[in-house]
Amino acid sequence: MVEISEHAEPDHSSGNQLPLGLIDIHSHLIPAIDDGCIDVTESVEAIQLLIRAGYVGSICTPHIWPQQFPRNTAPRIEELTRELDSRLDADGITYQLWSGGEVRLYEGIVDWLKVNGVPTLACSPCVLTDLWDGGWNRWVIEVFEWLLANHYQPILAHPERMPPSRGTWRMLQDVVQMGVWLQGNFRSFTGEEGYNAGQLVRQLVFEQQFKFMALDTHRPGSLVGRFDGMQLMVEECGQAVVDELTMYAPRRHIFGMSQ
Ligand SMILES: [Fe+2]
Repeated sequence: MVEISEHAEPDHSSGNQLPLGLIDIHSHLIPAIDDGCIDVTESVEAIQLLIRAGYVGSICTPHIWPQQFPRNTAPRIEELTRELDSRLDADGITYQLWSGGEVRLYEGIVDWLKVNGVPTLACSPCVLTDLWDGGWNRWVIEVFEWLLANHYQPILAHPERMPPSRGTWRMLQDVVQMGVWLQGNFRSFTGEEGYNAGQLVRQLVFEQQFKFMALDTHRPGSLVGRFDGMQLMVEECGQAVVDELTMYAPRRHIFGMSQ
């Protein structure tokens, strides 16, 4: 969690030692805190699969949704990320973890953030959000406006998975225009998220609307399909595009690194 008062710059210190490799900016690796890994054994198993696939680090982004997971706050996630990191050290596994959160957008979330703090990604001003309301009510824009006005950088996770709505494309253009960044999920390429998600993820990649692509890692068993989606994107869009969105963009935009 980072308190933003003025025009905040990313904290470079956390990324300085980072070896070149893929970074998953959206993951549910922390055990037993949401619908991700159910215990630490699964967390370690998932991380070993990520390492084999070329990942060097993950930002832990458990769901922050008070109605479903009332105990999930930034301080708790920071503490549990440190615990998982210690377990990796004890097991001799070299892998970077940072804390964050995936903030469910709903009417009233700003009041919750004012009381409980704003969970940011790895000491950057970035705030990962998800939205399942396909209606694009006015409050959605107001939440983004509040974050931007307070010098946070909102990121909307996997917009391609939102309920299909005739206004979705236009609204995505509007939120990008106001300064919101978009993050796509690799698995949407496989069809497992539905036909519409497969179409929209390709359109957003083609139009260069995504700032990042992520695995949105949950339990280790789900990684096969997520890696399949990444492979499909490599075949359709080229390795350079995937590297930019998973290796270089997180370094620049979250860790403030030149490379
Ligand atoms: Fe997620």
